Amino acid sequence: MEQTLWRKGGRRETKLPPWGKGRGDNADARPLIETKYPGGIRGVGGKLTLHASVFALSCGTFMKIFIDGKFYSERDAKISVFDHGLLYGDGVFEGIRAYNGRVFKLKEHVDRLFYSAKAILLRIPLSPERISGAVIASCRANKIRDGYIRLVVTRGVGTLGLGPHSCKKPSVIIIADKIQLYPQRLYQSGMEIVTVPTVRNLHSAVNPAVKSLNYLNNILAKIEANNAGVEEAVMLNSEGYVAECTGDNLFIVKNGALLTPPLSAGALYGITRQTVIELAEEAGLKVSEPDLTRYDLFNADECFLTGTGAEIMPVIRIDGREIGDGRPGTITRKLEEAYHVLTKAAGEPI
Ligand SMILES: Cc1ncc(COP(=O)(O)O)c(C=O)c1O
Repeated sequence: MEQTLWRKGGRRETKLPPWGKGRGDNADARPLIETKYPGGIRGVGGKLTLHASVFALSCGTFMKIFIDGKFYSERDAKISVFDHGLLYGDGVFEGIRAYNGRVFKLKEHVDRLFYSAKAILLRIPLSPERISGAVIASCRANKIRDGYIRLVVTRGVGTLGLGPHSCKKPSVIIIADKIQLYPQRLYQSGMEIVTVPTVRNLHSAVNPAVKSLNYLNNILAKIEANNAGVEEAVMLNSEGYVAECTGDNLFIVKNGALLTPPLSAGALYGITRQTVIELAEEAGLKVSEPDLTRYDLFNADECFLTGTGAEIMPVIRIDGREIGDGRPGTITRKLEEAYHVLTKAAGEPI
């Protein structure tokens, strides 16, 4: 594919073949140079032509974003305003990390994406293998060795009514970038968190196990935490038991054993949570998943949060109560170390 640059009104512009004219076809989005990746994913090749390099420079970015099988520059990566992902938060997503040239727990993330989609009757238009291939291709295209990948499937373009039957084609979007969820100093000192009034969604409403594009429940809790001057919130379920935080699962250590709320309390089936449980068991720690109350948190010896974005974050104060001796605990530190060792060595090669 060749791109022609010309100047109009003193501004550099790029003329490209008319890619998709309909609403749902990313009418304005212009694919960058395409090559074939194994598995049939069309991607950006290692060699950019001079024209394409100038094009990328004129965009002020080299980021390449995957939308429905093609890569677009950051400026041109657009979806329709009629996409129900935007209109109703109708869709699912995953946040994935790459470490040391490997995508960590890729299969687990892709599996969870498909479980979430199944729960909301959303048919993902690519197979799990194709999705995995596209994630790897996105990392390669953006030269990501250590980074964060956002994988999104929207319901697609439909009418203004909320019924998904008008959405004929779900869209798959992949952004391979970087993330720093919390300030680095908090990983050293530990974090203070608070319990917030907004409770976790009921299982009988949108099940909290569904990682949907509708994160308002968590966003409200996050705002409440920020209003209280802290970075993260403990969310209780409607019965008053601890569920999780807005973007992380929660663990406590008591008398040398690890405890975390059961998934039935309203926690996401966290992939980091599961990894930490396995690391703890390998280290000979007892792990259990009982219902936990705020009282249990206040009287824990240690507390920490887990998440793909957050990784492992020590917690030192909850609702004004110091946890343990008010410093990150030794078991937390050991698990953190084991987690970092694992992330550097395991995963799908990019
Ligand atoms: C609400 C919520 N809980 C927990 C987590 C942690 O899950 P994971 O370890 O799979 O990233 C996340 C992040 O994905 C989340 O959004």
